[in-house]
Amino acid sequence: MKVSRRVMGRLLHRRDLLGFAGAAMLSFSCPAAASTRTLRQAAASRGLLYGASCVSRDVAANPAYAELLRRQCGVIVPANALKWAALRPTPTTFDFSGADELFALARAADAKFRGHVLVWHEAMPDWLRQLRDPEEVRSALGAHIAAACGHYRGRMHSWDVVNEAVFPDDGRSDGLRETFWLRRLGPGYIAEAFRLAAAADPSALLCYNDDGLSFGPKAVGQRAAVLRLVERLRGDGVPIHALGIQSHLETGMDFRAAEMRAFLDEVSGLGLSIFISELDVFDGSIRGSVEARDAGVAATLSAYLDVLLAHPATSVVVTWGLSDRYTWLNDTPRGRGRPVRALPYDDALAPKPAWTALEAALAGAPGRAASDH
Ligand code: XIL
Repeated sequence: MKVSRRVMGRLLHRRDLLGFAGAAMLSFSCPAAASTRTLRQAAASRGLLYGASCVSRDVAANPAYAELLRRQCGVIVPANALKWAALRPTPTTFDFSGADELFALARAADAKFRGHVLVWHEAMPDWLRQLRDPEEVRSALGAHIAAACGHYRGRMHSWDVVNEAVFPDDGRSDGLRETFWLRRLGPGYIAEAFRLAAAADPSALLCYNDDGLSFGPKAVGQRAAVLRLVERLRGDGVPIHALGIQSHLETGMDFRAAEMRAFLDEVSGLGLSIFISELDVFDGSIRGSVEARDAGVAATLSAYLDVLLAHPATSVVVTWGLSDRYTWLNDTPRGRGRPVRALPYDDALAPKPAWTALEAALAGAPGRAASDH
């Protein structure tokens, strides 16, 4: 089908929606939507994997949102459905319904599925918190990992095995956070969880995931402690394949590119891949117009991704949500009262400057072998 000059002009104007290749294809091809470049395609063109987290309730309530996830994402991550609080209503039962809905969404899109999360100190059901006896806790952990990893055995791209286990402020010499898991099982719980996950699903990539690594006065200490942890794990022969850097960014953040590069070098020197696992940008520092906030979010993404994606070990980018309508930041005290502009799409599912920045960063990244992730 031929596209009229006027329509073509308008489409070309909407450069935020189109890569050059997509724009060029429009002159010969059919519906604009079919040739519009997606984030998934931009990533794949460089051997990267892009996707987003989501919540089954939102997907079920909004078919247009589900369609957007299917089109834009090469990997889908359940934001909450695999956490103990959702998956484990009782000590003896598993409720995979929410996660399975999102697995079906991924399947329909021919996208990968990423598991979040097996061990975390939050989103724990009361019955679990009440366990005191280390042997009971150990056996609950073993049963949980065997069942969760077993359920998706051979079908999971990767699992966040342990999340946010490092918190130097707690004052321990090993930098570990004082949590239920640490108190009940001792510091060996981390290695134990990885070994259990590897046994239950030998084909999933196993990640340690953490926050506080990207910016701020505490990032230096956090990076050092995380590095010591993953070094120890690798040294002990624990099956760990990737570091997830959450990347909950903020406009106006003090981002130290050289320090970050050095950290990425150290992590990849241990043989680990790097996943940007929960990317979003809180725009609370900008009091101005929506345009100013969007520009700030886009600039923050560009500056950050330029550094992270230049590193050959970075293989996966996951945004924590896809549309501002469903970002978790709207539910936290930080975002309260003023909807945030954290993600690639706005409330009405229209792409924003954040989309353009993300697409450009993905498409402009040095190419790498797709098998790296
Ligand atoms: C968040 C979810 O997005 C929210 O819906 C939920 O209420 C709280 O948890 N770091 C993590 C994620 O590792 O699991 C968190 O997800 C966001 C911070």
